[in-house]
Amino acid sequence: MEDLMQKIVSLAKRRGFIFPGSEIYGGLANSWDYGPLGVELKNNIKQEWWKRFVHSRADIVGIDAALLMNPEVWGASGHLKNFSDPLVECKKCHNRFRADALDESQVDGRVKCPGIFKNGPCGGELKLSESKQFNLMLKTFLGPTEDASNIVYFRPETAQAMFVNFKNILDTNHPKLPFGIAQQGKAFRNEITPGNFIFRTREFEQMEIEYFIPEAQWEKYFEHWLGQMKQWLKHLGVSDKKLHYVDIPDGERAHYSKRTVDIEYEYPFGQKELYGLAYRGDFDLKNHMEASGQDMRYTDTETNEKFLPHVIEPTWGVDRSVLVAMLEAYHEEQAPTAAARKGEPKEEGESATRVVMKFPKWLAPVKVAVLPLSKKPELSKVAKDIFETLSKEFVCEYDETQSIGKRYRRQDEIGTPLVVTVDFESLEDKKVTLRDRDTMKQERSKIKDLASAIHDRLQS
Ligand code: GAP
Repeated sequence: MEDLMQKIVSLAKRRGFIFPGSEIYGGLANSWDYGPLGVELKNNIKQEWWKRFVHSRADIVGIDAALLMNPEVWGASGHLKNFSDPLVECKKCHNRFRADALDESQVDGRVKCPGIFKNGPCGGELKLSESKQFNLMLKTFLGPTEDASNIVYFRPETAQAMFVNFKNILDTNHPKLPFGIAQQGKAFRNEITPGNFIFRTREFEQMEIEYFIPEAQWEKYFEHWLGQMKQWLKHLGVSDKKLHYVDIPDGERAHYSKRTVDIEYEYPFGQKELYGLAYRGDFDLKNHMEASGQDMRYTDTETNEKFLPHVIEPTWGVDRSVLVAMLEAYHEEQAPTAAARKGEPKEEGESATRVVMKFPKWLAPVKVAVLPLSKKPELSKVAKDIFETLSKEFVCEYDETQSIGKRYRRQDEIGTPLVVTVDFESLEDKKVTLRDRDTMKQERSKIKDLASAIHDRLQS
C-alpha cells in the first residue's frame, strides 16, 4: 500500500501535477508546488465546491478575507491559549516530535528518538514526562520593527474571518436564520510532524462554511451537513468502503467544539482525517462580542428577539481532497478487456500495463486531447483548427510529439476522458476518432458535430 503513495508522488512529479517546493535549491521540507495539471485539478475542486455550496444555495454567501488578521482575533478565538500540540525534544539530536504521535507501546518514560538522519537512526532518549505545549500558529512581524507589538499570525483556519465578518454580513445581506458564510483559502500551521506528501503541510488550503442556526435545531443541521459531506465525497469519486465517520469523544475535541465527527479515510499510510464537522455552539460569536465590545447578536424580525446564533461548521481540506482524488483515480490495468477492445486495432506502443487516472469527468484537469496521427503538415493543420474551436469550450491539450501510442499513454496517465485523433481518412471523410479513456473504445465523429459529441460524453 505504501507503494501506491510512491507511485502517486512519482506520477505527480513526472506529469506535472505536483512538484517538491523550491526544488532547485534542494527543496524546502514538506512544501509542494502545484504544476500545470495540479492547478487545474485543484481549481476544479474549488470551483465545483463553490458552485455546489455557494452559487446553488440561496442560504449561503461567500467571502474572501485577508490572511493576516488583528492578533486580538486569536486571543478571543482561544487559538493563542489552546491551539497547541504536546511536544518532546530529543536530548541528543534536539529534534522535536509530537508526544501524542509516538507509538503507544514506547510510552514507558524511556522512548527512543524516531528521527532518521543522514548517518542513520538517532536513537537518543526522549523524556515524555517533559513534554511541552507548542503553539502551532506561524508568526511574523508587520512593519519595519521586529518587536512584540508588531507580531501578527498567519491564520491557522479560515473560519475566524467568517465570525469576524458576521456583523458585516448581517448589515449588508440581512439574511434570515439558518444561513451560512463560506470561504476558501490558505491556512498556516507550524506543524511539528508534517509529511506524507500533501497530507500534512505547514501551508495548505481549506474550504469552510460557518452555518448559523437557532440553538434548538443544532442536531438537525448537524445531520444535514453530514449528509452534504457524504454526497460531496461520492461526487469526488471516493469509495464509501474507505471512509469512516468517527465521533470524537469528550476531552479530545478542539477547544471550541461541542460535537465533532471526523471523516477519516484509509490512506496507504493509515486511517486519518480527511474532513471534519463540528458543532461550535456560540463559542466564537460570544467571545468576539466580549473581546471587541461590538454587538454581534442577530435580531429575529418576527419576534424582535436578539440572540447569538449557534454554528455548525463543515470543513474540507483542499490538498487532502486532491490527495484522495488521486489515490482513488489511480488504476493499473494489465490489458484492456477483450470486450472493450473487440474489433479495434492494437494501439501502437501499447504496453502490457496501462496506468490510467479515472477521475470523475468534471474533475479531470484536461477534458480533451487533440492529436494528429503524425506530424504531417496537412494533419497538423486540421488538428490545430479543431483544437482552436474546442478550446473555447473545454480545457484541451494539443500534442504532436512522440508516437501515437505514447501520446495515448500520457493522456491516460493524466486522466483525460476523451482523445480526438486526426488521421489521413479525416482529410477525406471530415471525421475524426474519439477515444474513451476508460473503455479505450474508438468511435468516428463528424468534425462539425465534435463539440456536441464531446458535451454528451462528458455529461454521461
Ligand atoms: N476550522 C476548523 C478547522 O480548521 P481542522 O480539523 O483543524 O478544523 C480542517 O482543519 C481541515 O483542514 C482538515 O479536516 C484537513 O482537511 C485540513 N488540514 C488541517 N491541517 C492540515 C495540514 N497541516 N495540512 C493539510 N491539510 C490540513
